[in-house]
Amino acid sequence: MSYTTLAGRTAVITGAASGMGEATARTLASHGVRVALLARRADRLTALANRIEADGGQALAVPADVTDAASVDAAAERIHTAYGAVDLVVNAAGVMLPNPVTDGRADEWQRMLDTNVAGALRVIRAFTPDLIAAAAAGRTADLVNLSSIGAHIAFPHYAVYGATKAALTYLSQSLRTELGPRDVRVTNIEPGLTDTELGGHIDNAELATQLDGMFDALIGLSPDDVADLIAYATSRARHVNLRQAVVLPTRQA
Ligand SMILES: NC(=O)c1ccc[n+]([C@@H]2O[C@H](COP(=O)([O-])OP(=O)(O)OC[C@H]3O[C@@H](n4cnc5c(N)ncnc54)[C@H](OP(=O)(O)O)[C@@H]3O)[C@@H](O)[C@H]2O)c1
Repeated sequence: MSYTTLAGRTAVITGAASGMGEATARTLASHGVRVALLARRADRLTALANRIEADGGQALAVPADVTDAASVDAAAERIHTAYGAVDLVVNAAGVMLPNPVTDGRADEWQRMLDTNVAGALRVIRAFTPDLIAAAAAGRTADLVNLSSIGAHIAFPHYAVYGATKAALTYLSQSLRTELGPRDVRVTNIEPGLTDTELGGHIDNAELATQLDGMFDALIGLSPDDVADLIAYATSRARHVNLRQAVVLPTRQA
């Protein structure tokens, strides 16, 4: 399969400190994409950038917090200064904090809404002008949002997380009506169980154990599996939009 159309493009990838964002950065860089790496943990981003450069790629570590508009705008300025306009945006930053809604954990709700929904919007606001300009100049332009199978299927105690992912799936669908006519592709990826750090922030011991049990039973995807799908989708001819993909471990119904 040819991914050659990726070479020479410039990407910004949020959530690049771990999991799917990190894997996507490595994969795109291996196909000749310059990658700007966004997340909060600067040490992780620097280590990843060094690894990509050692493998012959080009990478820029840009520590930023997507819950903070000024931080996102400052990151965009740094990226524009170093690389110019980007033509590929991957929104992978996200948090998953399950608990019964009856526990009333407004702190967790706010964090998920602010990262998974408003955070993605801040990134979209910062980089959509680049995507529109790239497409207008005849180049391929992509916005990729990492939603979840949780956007469609209800899991007990994951109500707010699922709601943020349903919002992201709807946002992708709706954005296509604005950006598609301007030749910017919007791709919404909905993974199932994937072996990353995402479950590491759960503070409910029972739900953390339940998640571990799901990994034992279902054998999760690796972040590289999802990164491969993103590389496939973004390397198609520019008139082809693989608009929505659900990717699950084979054992997950
Ligand atoms: N793993 C799964 O089973 C699964 C399934 C479906 C969908 N997803 C979605 O896939 C996406 C990637 O998650 P993952 O599974 O790869 O988990 P992960 O390893 O925890 O990655 C999440 C990334 O987001 C970054 N992040 C979190 N809050 C941030 C903030 N405020 N500002 C900037 N970056 C922030 C984290 O880095 P810092 O902490 O350094 O900021 C981290 O690199 C998420 O949107 C998740 O909801 C995951």
